[in-house]
Amino acid sequence: MAPDTLRQLALRYHEFTDPAALTASERRVWEAARAATALAYAPYSRFHVGAALLLADNSLALGTNQENAAYPSGLCAERTALFGLAGGCGAAPPPRIMGMAVAARPAQGEFGPALPCGACRQVMLEYETRQGQPIWLLLPSLAGTILRFERLADLLPFHFSAADLPVR
Ligand code: THU
Repeated sequence: MAPDTLRQLALRYHEFTDPAALTASERRVWEAARAATALAYAPYSRFHVGAALLLADNSLALGTNQENAAYPSGLCAERTALFGLAGGCGAAPPPRIMGMAVAARPAQGEFGPALPCGACRQVMLEYETRQGQPIWLLLPSLAGTILRFERLADLLPFHFSAADLPVR
């Protein structure tokens, strides 16, 4: 191999301009994430985030951001949803996740972009790896469109994983 090889990654996602273009099942998860923003506890940022998970039995699991006066103690909506499902559903392993959606809005405003933070991407991906089946993801973009990723792994190339741990 040459000492310096330029490589490029291609990122695959669908982009929709209209929620009507989503499937009924996708639209249900999309709407659930938006509705969940009403359950956020975000008195400090006043940025209300909702996450909805579609499970294999067709039920939904929700999460919202939960803030705290000691700011770093709060948690994002995506992780609240996933940890709540995996740690509190009474089943181990937790139910299979088919897809998820995220939504965000200011306390008194319109829905805007909701792109998961790096820590949430890391956590989301581990649940996908753990269940061995891809999880699709719907995100409202900065441009006001809807982004649909086929798998969470597409959001975090070169991620840290169990394979990086020397001893397991
Ligand atoms: N937040 C989320 O819930 N999800 C994200 O992916 C990004 C940020 C929350 C954390 C905090 O409560 C508020 O949004 C402002 O950062």
